[in-house]
Amino acid sequence: MRTEFLHDTPEDIARAASLLQNGELVAFPTETVYGLGADARREDSVRAVFAAKGRPADNPLIVHIAEISQIGDIAAEIPEIALRLADAFWPGPLTMVLPKRDCIPMVTSGGLDTVGIRMPSHPVARALIRESGCPIAAPSANRSGKPSPTTARHVMDDMDGRIAAVLDGGLCEVGVESTVICFDDADTIHILRPGLISKEDLEPYASRVYVDKAIYEQIAPDAKVASPGMKYKHYSPDAKILPIDAPDFESFAAYVQAHSGEGVYCLLFDADPEIPGVPAMRYGDSGAQQAHFLFLRFRELDEAGAKTVYVRMPRQDGADLSVYNRLMRAAGFEVIRI
Ligand code: TXA
Ligand code: MG
Repeated sequence: MRTEFLHDTPEDIARAASLLQNGELVAFPTETVYGLGADARREDSVRAVFAAKGRPADNPLIVHIAEISQIGDIAAEIPEIALRLADAFWPGPLTMVLPKRDCIPMVTSGGLDTVGIRMPSHPVARALIRESGCPIAAPSANRSGKPSPTTARHVMDDMDGRIAAVLDGGLCEVGVESTVICFDDADTIHILRPGLISKEDLEPYASRVYVDKAIYEQIAPDAKVASPGMKYKHYSPDAKILPIDAPDFESFAAYVQAHSGEGVYCLLFDADPEIPGVPAMRYGDSGAQQAHFLFLRFRELDEAGAKTVYVRMPRQDGADLSVYNRLMRAAGFEVIRI
């Protein structure tokens, strides 16, 4: 199959919409990462998404909508708290897991009776959902196990020849995937995946907000998980990612210099000085900057031929937790402590 490379023009968005209506797969930009879209109601199309990604069938897809009012087409029950959060954070990088309606087949929900719903803010994503008239099921548009793509070229690197089209909308602003939440009861928010919208951002809307412990530590392969995505190793570049928990930059630099060699790189904060003899890439200073750059740098490190990458550890509060979580997962939760 030849993959069409489409641009952010009305004609190309219309072309992408008609491909989706015909059951084809189209990758498209969102403010978080690129998604691999299919009509969420069509079993055959959704099965093709799993096949193109090489994704395990029990890992459910997020359904994307263009208007808050469409939530009732997808969710069978909508608690008050979900409506308050939709008002506050949509369109934006928040996914809410709710009981699903029958129009969403079990293939889409990975066999669960719930469905993740998100209204993205990227204008191209919203135009595509509107024009196609489809609720769009879309996982990140990477091959399973690779870092999520934040440019159309990265989508092509993984998906060329496997999908009908890629719609180019430039570099994604947020850079890490949406915050995924579910509701344990009418007033408790359970964070299943951290994103730019943080625990602190959600706290005014519930009496309790808590982060699932799988965000911080590797869970046993047979453990029962709240979100199937937690079970799978993710987001790793080919290079080995080694986060270093060091008390200061000097001790980080000393460790890296002592372990330098062919293919050894480091991933630093912008404010860090050079480490003589060790090639460096940088991923920003604030959590939002690091989120924006992390997956981009992962792919650039592979392109540069990095084999081992020593990484400065992000913080764990606010939006920084999303960066910490993606880094830990890329590293298989192994940290060098010095
Ligand atoms: O920002 C994003 O969320 C991007 C863009 C394209 O919207 N999408 C994305 O999708 O990251 P994906 O499939 O790569 O990740 C979806 C995550 C998985 O960890 C999955 O297990 C979880 O959401 N999830 C989806 N539906 C769920 C459900 N019904 N219950 C629990 N977890 C669910
Ligand atoms: Mg993904």
